[in-house]
Amino acid sequence: MNPIKHVAIIMDGNGRWGIKNKGTRNLGHRAGLNTLESIIKETLNQKIKYLTLYTFSTENWKRPKKEISFLFTLLENFLQKKINSLVKNKIRLNIIGNKKKFSAQLQKLLSDSEKKTNKNKKLQINLALNYGSKEEILNTLRIIIKKKHKITEKNITENLYTKNIPNPDLLIRTGNTHRLSNFLLWQIAYTEIFFEKKLWPDFKDKDYRKILNKFRLLKRNFGAI
Ligand code: FPP
Repeated sequence: MNPIKHVAIIMDGNGRWGIKNKGTRNLGHRAGLNTLESIIKETLNQKIKYLTLYTFSTENWKRPKKEISFLFTLLENFLQKKINSLVKNKIRLNIIGNKKKFSAQLQKLLSDSEKKTNKNKKLQINLALNYGSKEEILNTLRIIIKKKHKITEKNITENLYTKNIPNPDLLIRTGNTHRLSNFLLWQIAYTEIFFEKKLWPDFKDKDYRKILNKFRLLKRNFGAI
């Protein structure tokens, strides 16, 4: 059976779920937060060490202002309300993405949350915020050039936002859409990808467990035979 160290998730479908069930996209995001909490609990149960969540992409700034500010309010409330529970459950919070675009207040909340949890070893949650793979790779190349180091595979891996994090074993995208949307393009070279029909707010623990169990039985050869 394949061990699972790292699961990455593209939590897609909130907007469509919201329109269909509650009349607004934003209520879909709120429902998506409930799914997120339950998937985090199941990830702990499964003793998986890393969970990377695509929460806000570099392209999501193109959305209406009202939706963007709703998402960030949701995030701020989530962090303020849940920080003690993260500490209690030994969960480390790590942000991947370019934080410079956020308000000073949000940057502080993010770095305080990271600091408060940085000794925790049970599960590391990597929240991808203002994250885009192309931006990450460009940023990485600039760091390497500034250090006057060589452009090598190892140097790139060690300077990405995901440095010190193993590559995802599997990537799940909900919402019945088959694309990668600029997420972890360097890191998923050999990741197994699962596209799930259900919209994120409808994605339940048992759907998650089904995918994890399917992954565990796969034959992985990393380019060999
Ligand atoms: C994609 O659905 C979802 C997002 C862009 C945001 C993810 C946010 C959450 C799961 C809830 C909030 C979580 C935190 C930590 C604040 P979509 O809006 O692209 O859905 P669509 O494809 O139906 O339009």
